[in-house]
Amino acid sequence: MKAGGRVLSVSGKGGTGKTLIAALLIREILALREDACVLAVDADADANLADALGVSFFKTVGDIREEILERKHREFFDLRTRFEAEIASILVEERGFDLLVMGRPEGPGCYCPVNHILRKAIDTLSQNYDYTVIDCEAGLEHLSRRTTQNVDLMIVVLDETMKSIKTAVNLMKIASEIDAEVEEMIFVANKITTEEAKERVLLSARRFGIEIAAFIPYDPLVAEYDIKGEPVVRLPEDAPSVRAVRELVKRII
Ligand SMILES: Nc1ncnc2c1ncn2[C@@H]1O[C@H](COP(=O)(O)OP(=O)(O)O)[C@@H](O)[C@H]1O
Ligand SMILES: [Mg+2]
Repeated sequence: MKAGGRVLSVSGKGGTGKTLIAALLIREILALREDACVLAVDADADANLADALGVSFFKTVGDIREEILERKHREFFDLRTRFEAEIASILVEERGFDLLVMGRPEGPGCYCPVNHILRKAIDTLSQNYDYTVIDCEAGLEHLSRRTTQNVDLMIVVLDETMKSIKTAVNLMKIASEIDAEVEEMIFVANKITTEEAKERVLLSARRFGIEIAAFIPYDPLVAEYDIKGEPVVRLPEDAPSVRAVRELVKRII
């Protein structure tokens, strides 16, 4: 067992609803546990968790990495301390949660040691929070490139499409093959339109050895908020998607 709070990550195929679910998870964790401190990590290069949460950010971890690498006289001996200080300085502090945006992934070149230090710095940071919620980049890369840190619960999102079910299956395989530090995985089906669709997804997933732990309905309000560019975190209390995530939070927290 690692020290510190619980780390939850949200993964899955692009467009399945990871960012919506990450934002609502944060909201509902804070609703359920008012005294909790949450670290929100946007680990998708195409960062939009901040928008979903209705907050702005100025600088990303990627920017810090570039700056440190570009400096002529690199002080390798205290790189870790330096990262920790710089990361602390770019955290966006909101009521109940802090947001850290990872930004662009590493470019070509030998960044491995730097990324290792970076991952350690974020691991250390997350120990200061009760919960860390990571909105992962789409697909499998975060697992195969090991940009994800140790995770207690990986929430794999899929929708009615076979493609998204296959991505979920691949995530499950990779996690076991590479012996990733993922304690537990659950599968959540999102954007479910009808009872028939629910049944269909349940059976298709089961054929691949996946049991769906929760269903989140298709919610027209989500689409409406997205069109208007309104933060989905401000959806009404009784919106179907919010209610479904609330039930999920009660089970996993
Ligand atoms: N439960 C839902 N009901 C309706 N639309 C949804 C739902 N979940 C996600 N969407 C829509 O699907 C699209 C992708 O969602 P998003 O959270 O950005 O996915 P991801 O982060 O996995 O790429 C967005 O346009 C969003 O409005
Ligand atoms: Mg997203």
